[in-house]
Amino acid sequence: MDRRQFSHLCASLLAGAAALDAAATTGKQASVDAWPATALTDSLGTPLRFQDLAIGSSHVFHYPYRTTPCFLIRLNAAPDGGASLTDRAGNQYTWQGGAGDDQTLVAFSAICTHKMSHPAKPISHLNFRSNAKQITKRDGTRQTRAQLITCCSEYSIYDATKGAEVINGPATQPLTSIVLDINADGQILATGTRGGHIYDEFLQKFGLRQSMEQGIADPSQLADATTIAVPAATYSKQQILC
Ligand code: FES
Repeated sequence: MDRRQFSHLCASLLAGAAALDAAATTGKQASVDAWPATALTDSLGTPLRFQDLAIGSSHVFHYPYRTTPCFLIRLNAAPDGGASLTDRAGNQYTWQGGAGDDQTLVAFSAICTHKMSHPAKPISHLNFRSNAKQITKRDGTRQTRAQLITCCSEYSIYDATKGAEVINGPATQPLTSIVLDINADGQILATGTRGGHIYDEFLQKFGLRQSMEQGIADPSQLADATTIAVPAATYSKQQILC
């Protein structure tokens, strides 16, 4: 076990104790997982700052493992506030809302909770859609909505303004929320996850291919102290939009 993995173990034990404490108080299972922090940079290693990100933009970075992709999204407007969500195990948790001066910065695991479609270098079926599009909700009603994450594999839709809750499709739980922090210099850090996650299944199925893409030997290697965020439009050669 290396130093970062040991740090994660300690942080997870503390988070677990906090979750149990919260559960005892509220009767709900607070689903929080602390991981070693990583600071986001651009491809040249320059710290990525909130004010550098265009409104409506999305980036791909990897966290908490070097092989597990996430979206960093600057929304068009601040979300209304936190959202009460439930993972597939029935655990309830509260999404923390946006970060940054205007609370428009959010991040989610970029792994669809249906069959784990995700951005890969050749192609991505899972993408953030800033502009409005017509959708059909689970109850059959049609709406025009913006700021969605769509998975064109089997058409799951997540609402990026509501903690990536599932609006439509076969996805079984919200995308895992990434907890963001912004330090005194304005640099963005990922510091943990909130909600159910499927990292074990993902590493088992896609870890080897992802580690080859990332040029590392161990698929379960945790993110380094810094991680590169790449504009989603250039991360994958082809983005499938639906
Ligand atoms: S993998 Fe995303 S909808 Fe099936």
